[in-house]
Amino acid sequence: ASIDTSAQAEEGVRRRDFINIAAVSFAGVGGAAVLVPLVSQMAPSADVLAQSSTEIDISAIQPGQAIKAVFRKQPVFIRNLTPEEVSAADKVDASSLRDPQTLEERTKEGKTNWLITMGVCTHLGCVPLGAGEGEVKGEFGGYFCPCHGSHYDTAARIRKGPAPKNLEVPEYAFISDTVVKIG
Ligand code: FES
Repeated sequence: ASIDTSAQAEEGVRRRDFINIAAVSFAGVGGAAVLVPLVSQMAPSADVLAQSSTEIDISAIQPGQAIKAVFRKQPVFIRNLTPEEVSAADKVDASSLRDPQTLEERTKEGKTNWLITMGVCTHLGCVPLGAGEGEVKGEFGGYFCPCHGSHYDTAARIRKGPAPKNLEVPEYAFISDTVVKIG
């Protein structure tokens, strides 16, 4: 009888293990379903990952267009602002901003049309939209972070939402009129 009891106890343990494992698996599936949209939003796209050089040819970026490059495995937005976008960004009273900076302070002298920023939201690090063809732009004509709804303006300055700072401007220099070196 004692052998039977022990066998039953063992069987009971196995069942509990199974139930525990099943519960964990279901939790895992649920967690994954919630995480996937965030992860895909945070991960740089394949074309971004394929580009490893920090010297970038910008000759094909027309006014009003932008590309995503990569620097230290993080996305960088390189945007050629139209004259209208430059003047709209200039008209903003920088002292009224959460992170006060003029367009001039965020660009190189004589090249205020070239806005180069990290493509990393300063809230929790998602990749904002607005630097690619067909992407949603923020209501200020700039960038929109889909994770928690931060809006950045045409000069990538924070205007609304939880992000505390403007999109960061990385170290960069123009090697020529058509090539920029990030970092
Ligand atoms: Fe961009 Fe939260 S990560 S708003």
